[in-house]
Amino acid sequence: MKLWFERNHRDYPWCHTKDPYEILIAEFLLQQTHVRKVEEAYLSLLSDFPTAKELAEASESKLIDLISPIGLIYRAKRMKSTANQVFLNYGGKIPDTFEDLIKLPGVGNYIANAVLCYGYYQNRVPIDTNVIRLFMRYFNLSSEKPRPRTDEVLAEQIRDRYTFDFDYRIANWAVLDFAGLVCTMIKPQCPLNEHCSYYNKKILIHKE
Ligand code: ADE
Repeated sequence: MKLWFERNHRDYPWCHTKDPYEILIAEFLLQQTHVRKVEEAYLSLLSDFPTAKELAEASESKLIDLISPIGLIYRAKRMKSTANQVFLNYGGKIPDTFEDLIKLPGVGNYIANAVLCYGYYQNRVPIDTNVIRLFMRYFNLSSEKPRPRTDEVLAEQIRDRYTFDFDYRIANWAVLDFAGLVCTMIKPQCPLNEHCSYYNKKILIHKE
């Protein structure tokens, strides 16, 4: 996976920062939005509001203008209230524990884990639908829930299989890129076929 990442990885501005505030902004913008669209909004937002204090004081209409090209403008309000709370309750420093992060408006499991991993170098696994698809296929996992994303048992099974022995930042980016570029929803063309339960099951079905 590491070798694949070194050769194929996508390069985004948020992969070059260790600042938890900048990571938080990236993750807010990446929510339910195609990654390619986010880059410009991310750079403009950080250039206008480089710290949580400035974001807390931002005019909401300016924020909406910045976010509207990528949609889901309700994020403007949430980002501003999150910045406000960070400023008031944590002295402007993005919290470094899961418990504090998920108290912030609009911050759920995924964003909290992403901030802890990419911003604080903790061995955390942010799990989204792409990651779920990859792990369910490769390890033949299943979910009892209609929305596997809310399945804590499945999340635990994925974390148990996360046995990468290199930097979790790199491992998580590699998994995200691999799931998005190779283990695609339709017609995956995958170099790991031989080891993948999903592929081998399909081959067996075709043979029957
Ligand atoms: N690349 C694609 N999606 C990402 C995310 N949510 N966080 C960091 N890098 C990403």
